Amino acid sequence: MADNITNAPKLPPGPKITPFELIAELLKGDPQIVRDPYRYFSGLHDKYGDLVYSDFGVGSFYITDNLALIRKVFVAEPRNYAKADAYLEAAHFLGNGILNSEGEMWQTQRAMVQPAFTKSRLNAFISTMLETGAKATANLPSQVDVSELAMHIALENICRFLFSSDFAANEKTIRAAVEFGNNFISRRIQMPFKLPVYFPSVSNLRFFWHRFELDQILYRIIDERLASPKQDAVDLLGMLLLAEKENNSGKIRKEQVRDEIITLLIAGHETTGYTLAMALWLIAADSSLQQRLRAEADAAMASGAVDFEKCPLSEAVVNETLRLYPAAWIIGRKLKADEIFEGYLLKSGAQLQTGIIALHRNPKYWSDPDSFKPERFLGENAEPAVKQAFMPFGAGPRKCIGSVFAMLEMQTAIYAILKDYRLSRVAGAEPKVEYLFTARLKEALPVIFDRL
Ligand code: HEM
Repeated sequence: MADNITNAPKLPPGPKITPFELIAELLKGDPQIVRDPYRYFSGLHDKYGDLVYSDFGVGSFYITDNLALIRKVFVAEPRNYAKADAYLEAAHFLGNGILNSEGEMWQTQRAMVQPAFTKSRLNAFISTMLETGAKATANLPSQVDVSELAMHIALENICRFLFSSDFAANEKTIRAAVEFGNNFISRRIQMPFKLPVYFPSVSNLRFFWHRFELDQILYRIIDERLASPKQDAVDLLGMLLLAEKENNSGKIRKEQVRDEIITLLIAGHETTGYTLAMALWLIAADSSLQQRLRAEADAAMASGAVDFEKCPLSEAVVNETLRLYPAAWIIGRKLKADEIFEGYLLKSGAQLQTGIIALHRNPKYWSDPDSFKPERFLGENAEPAVKQAFMPFGAGPRKCIGSVFAMLEMQTAIYAILKDYRLSRVAGAEPKVEYLFTARLKEALPVIFDRL
């Protein structure tokens, strides 16, 4: 419940920015929040504390890493908050899929998709993930762009999960559309003044062209599936079509199915691809860690597939990657009503943002926060002591539906690679991250792959 509003509540402290200063900053290029979000959020925290307010010259924004507020917004009272406005921009690409929707519609969608993510279904999918990994790593050169490799593995896994097909022939089109879409949506989120999306500018037209190309592929897949009823429910598309028929007296709303599928495809592709690439780069610096990961997975082999519940180190490696390099580097909500929090006014209609990237390195919750130390997630004194200080997949009822899928596919891919290769860093090759709607690698990230 929101606290009662007392007399003359004040706004939290924060930077004062005039529209002119904002324009001058934008003319210089990308603002600091996307150039270096970690320093941006930690700088605000150091200067103003854990709840910051600014209108940034364009609207009302709160930036917080106050865990009590984060728990309230995401876990305790999620219905009192809407998804941040950024999701309205994403809707140009994703439509009314589960990531954007609210209220009853979201509940119905979540109930419809959830059965695809049960433990038994996901465990059964590990052998497919291992196959994807083995195929992708069969004939690698001695130096591999891990960003390319990881994006390929992530796309193949999600396509096989959604449609039981790797869609190799469409990979280029799908990846180009996802990449352009992420870029386009992110630029729109950052721009305080923007043209309507239907204005025929070059960039808008290019966006609609990519969306059209992707839609052509998705509608073809849906039509083919409708024409071959045998495959009902073997994969997520089959489950969605069955649920559609049941919920709509036999009718299929193809556009809605498209929205669900594209959401899962996009939510599950670049996020995992980026994290996996970063994990490979991180473990490439430590051959003894690689040896321990290999040994752990070999020991957990049961009837041809690895039981990842018996692989705490591999889980810790992925968690530590997600801590240092969270693909979802910022998560936001919109306030639906005025309320008071710790004596400060939270205004209805304002955006409330949490810089996950800085929360994950906040020295209050993490020892030696900038170092890669997977062991911090293991043992009796595992970090963080406070749960919400680590939320790479969000929290509460809107937590990522694909979190276990993502963990398993990354653990599987790491194992598939380490089984055959010893990795090491290429001198001077550093990741260049761009902070779009989700983070991604801007350039190739070469890593040395020596066959064992
Ligand atoms: C490393 C990989 C991933 C990361 C870091 C990630 C992160 C997130 C985060 C932070 C949210 C919550 C957003 C919010 O609260 O506003 C989310 C939601 C979601 N994710 Fe993921 N995700 C990943 C992989 C996946 C995969 C593999 C899938 C699908 C198979 C997926 C599907 C979704 C969906 C459908 C939602 C919306 C859930 C809802 O609102 O009910 N994600 N993800």
